[in-house]
Amino acid sequence: MASSSEMLSLSFFLFLTVSQPQAKTFQPKALLLPVTKDSSLQQYTTQIKQRTPLVPIKLTIDVGGNFMWVKCEKGYVSSSYRYVPCGSKICKISRSGACVVKCPPPHRPGCNDNACSHFSYNPYTRISTLGEMAADAVLIQSTDGRSSGPMVFVPGLVFSCTFRSPSLLKGLSSGAEGIAGLGRSLVSLPSLFASAFKFQRIFAMCLSSSSQSNGVIIFGNGPYEFQPKKEVSKSLMYTPLVRNPKSTRRYYSKDDPSTDYFIRLTSIKINGRAVPLNMSLLHINEEGKGGTKISTFDPYTVMERSIFMAVLKVFMEETKGVTRVPSVKPFQYCISSKNLGSTRVGPPVPTIDLGLHHKSVSWRIFGANSMVQLKDNVLCLGFVDGGLNPRTSVVIGGHQLEDNLLQFDLVKRRLGFTSSLLYMQTTCANFNFTSSV
Ligand SMILES: *[C@@H]1O[C@H](CO)[C@@H](O)[C@H](O)[C@H]1NC(C)=O
Ligand SMILES: *[C@@H]1O[C@H](CO)[C@@H](O)[C@H](O)[C@H]1NC(C)=O
Repeated sequence: MASSSEMLSLSFFLFLTVSQPQAKTFQPKALLLPVTKDSSLQQYTTQIKQRTPLVPIKLTIDVGGNFMWVKCEKGYVSSSYRYVPCGSKICKISRSGACVVKCPPPHRPGCNDNACSHFSYNPYTRISTLGEMAADAVLIQSTDGRSSGPMVFVPGLVFSCTFRSPSLLKGLSSGAEGIAGLGRSLVSLPSLFASAFKFQRIFAMCLSSSSQSNGVIIFGNGPYEFQPKKEVSKSLMYTPLVRNPKSTRRYYSKDDPSTDYFIRLTSIKINGRAVPLNMSLLHINEEGKGGTKISTFDPYTVMERSIFMAVLKVFMEETKGVTRVPSVKPFQYCISSKNLGSTRVGPPVPTIDLGLHHKSVSWRIFGANSMVQLKDNVLCLGFVDGGLNPRTSVVIGGHQLEDNLLQFDLVKRRLGFTSSLLYMQTTCANFNFTSSV
């Protein structure tokens, strides 16, 4: 016999999938989250309104994260909180490996009997703690891809209610209470929003290079318009998303596929000159090692040592005439920007082309994304040495993603990318957040 609380939760999920009273009156085609850059910690954060009554919750974005997790330790008050029972469908598709059979009373958010459990992972501390899978009400802005639309209500958005670890929030942006996981799973925010409103499992991420004005994540298909009236979804180039059969994070079962977004990097060219690379490093082996992924966790692109050294060598040769200055950690090559001038796409340095699955498809990195302005007149090549034996050979980090729109299409299993929006005379900070209602 199922307990009454189990019945309650089961019927709650039935209600979730069968009826959507709010959606009947207004069916959004896309949703919107503003993204703020925390320059001091090099993190990207957002805010959602959750619970009943609604409370704003600040979260650090993890593009490859499995799901959203929120600190539940104290002060979680909500009349719409429901835990996910073990053995339920949503528990199964979340690939939970654990069930809390008995939690010592009093039962409360994060502590219930027969609750589906997960490890919530903090990539900044590499610490995981157990959390209770739950669902709670969320209010989020809709969009037509051009400006903000009406707020819409999700009665039960699944997340992990995480407790029992004082160190859980360490390393996160000040005030952040958890992580917004956007990864390749059935319980990440893009998947949950898509199923709540019956739109495709697609989202676009556009990170602003400035902490002063917000970038944006749009859940749903385009248009993606940035002022002045640049509809950038027309400019997307595509490359397949590659499956990594093994998680690249700690505390996951070895059999779990990675929820990170991997792409097939096959060459690197600097000013059109091919960088000699050990191709076996670009391949993902059966243990899940190697390959290239996208990361909001790493502020700068990290490359396995032989790749990094080869890139550095060609880049230095291609900037021979420029004045070199002492390097500043974590970078190894810095130049003087005095008399260097600038272009629409940043400092005039050699372009770096990331060649992808086909020789006609490459992601061009211009000066604004390759170079980091440190202080007056010092510019450094914004790539870092990942050492000799990293799990993933190339991790494309935040600085290289800024002012590029990336579209993650989980249906067609492909990544769309625009290269620098500066080239199109706009930026990720140019989304019109003014509401039409
Ligand atoms: C290329 O990388 C693989 C994997 O790390 C390594 O075993 C091999 O020795 C490397 N080859 C060369 C020529 O360095
Ligand atoms: C921004 O969007 C609002 C609402 O749709 C609209 O009224 C306004 O004209 C837009 N602003 C610009 C600069 O296009």
